[in-house]
Amino acid sequence: MKLAHRMLLQYVVVVLVLDLLIIAIVGQRLEHRLARDTATVPVALDHREAHGIVAEVRTDIALAGAAALVVTVLLTVVFARHVSQPITKLRDMARGLANHDRSIPPAPVSAPGEVGELAVAISQLSVQLDALEKTRRDFVANVSHELRTPLTIVGGFAETLVEDDDVPADNRRQFAKTILDNTRRMQRIVDDLLDLSRIESGGWVPRPVDTDLRGAIAEAAALVRDAAERKGIALTVQVASEASRASLDRTALRQILTNLSENAIRHTPTGGSVTIFTLADRGGVWVGVRDTGEGIAPEHLSRVFERFYRVDTGRSRDSGGTGLGLSIVRHLAEAHGGTTQATSEVGRGTTIRVFFPDRADRSPADR
Ligand SMILES: Nc1ncnc2c1ncn2[C@@H]1O[C@H](COP(=O)(O)OP(=O)(O)O)[C@@H](O)[C@H]1O
Ligand SMILES: [Mg+2]
Repeated sequence: MKLAHRMLLQYVVVVLVLDLLIIAIVGQRLEHRLARDTATVPVALDHREAHGIVAEVRTDIALAGAAALVVTVLLTVVFARHVSQPITKLRDMARGLANHDRSIPPAPVSAPGEVGELAVAISQLSVQLDALEKTRRDFVANVSHELRTPLTIVGGFAETLVEDDDVPADNRRQFAKTILDNTRRMQRIVDDLLDLSRIESGGWVPRPVDTDLRGAIAEAAALVRDAAERKGIALTVQVASEASRASLDRTALRQILTNLSENAIRHTPTGGSVTIFTLADRGGVWVGVRDTGEGIAPEHLSRVFERFYRVDTGRSRDSGGTGLGLSIVRHLAEAHGGTTQATSEVGRGTTIRVFFPDRADRSPADR
C-alpha cells in the first residue's frame, strides 16, 4: 500500500474512533445528569424533552466529527502528496543508481526536512558513484595499456625463437634478453599494483615505531648511492637536529625514500645534487628529497601523484619506471595519517616531501 493511502486510512480511523468515543461519553454523561436532576429537583423539564436535548447534542457532535473527517482527509491528501512525491522520485533515483541507469538524473528534489536531506545524500552518492566508476574504467584501461606493449614484445620475440631455427646465436641471446627485460617490467608493474592494492584495502597497515631518522635515512641513501655515483650526482643527507626522530613504519620510510631518490636521480643531470632531508614542523616531521634537476611544469605537478601519470611516458618506461611510485608514496603517507607535498621549478629542481604526524598511529580524523 502506498504511503499516502496508509496515512489517509490511519487518520480516518483515528478521527472516526475519537468521534464515536466523544459521542458515547458525552451522551452517557448528559443522560446520567438529566436522569439525576429530573429525579431530585422539580425542574421544568420532562423526560421526553431531556432525551430530545441529548439526541440533539449527539447529532451536533456527529456533525462536528464528520466535518473534522472531511478536513482531515483533505489535509492528509495534500500533505501525503507533498511527502510522497519526492519520496517516489528518490525511489526512482535509487533504483536508477542500483541498475547503473543514469537516464534518471539526480534531479534536485525540493522537499523540506529529512526527505530533503535524503535527496541531497542520494545526489551526492550518485556523483561519487560516477567518479568511482570512471576511476575504475580508467584504471582497467591504464593497466591493460601498460601491460600490452611488453606482452606484445615478449610474444613476438618468443614466437621468432620458436619458429625460426636459423636465428644466429648472438641474436638469440639478444631476443632472450629483450624477453627477460620486458618480463621484469611487467613484474614491476604487478608488484607496484599489488602494493597499492594492499595499502588501499587496508591489508597493509603501518607499524609505527619511534625511529632515529639519521640511521634510517643513511640506510635508504646507501641503496641509491651507486646509482647517483654512476651518474655523477652528489647525494647528501641533511637531518635537522630538531627533526631527528619520528614515529613511523621503517619499511614504508625506506620505500618512500628509495622511490623519491630514484626519481630525483633519474631527473637530475650529471653534476647535479640530490639531498635527502628532514624538517621539523608543527605536530610532526617532514622527510623529503630535493634535487637540482629538470623540474616539473605546474600543469604536471598537480598530477604526478596519480597512478600511471608521467610527464614523459616513454622516458619513464625506458628507465624502468611504472608511473606508480609517487602514488605509492602518497598512499604510504596517508596510511600514517600524513600528507605529501611537491614543489618544483622547471630547470631548477624539484622537492617532494612527506609529512609524518607525531602520533602516526592515529588516523587524521582523531587529530
Ligand atoms: N624529482 C623529479 N623531477 C622531475 N620529475 C619528476 C620527479 N619525480 C617524479 N617526476 C615525474 O613524475 C612522474 C611520476 O613519478 P612516479 O610515480 O615515481 O613514476 P615513474 O615510474 O615514472 O618514476 C615521473 O614519470 C616524472 O615525470
Ligand atoms: Mg618513480
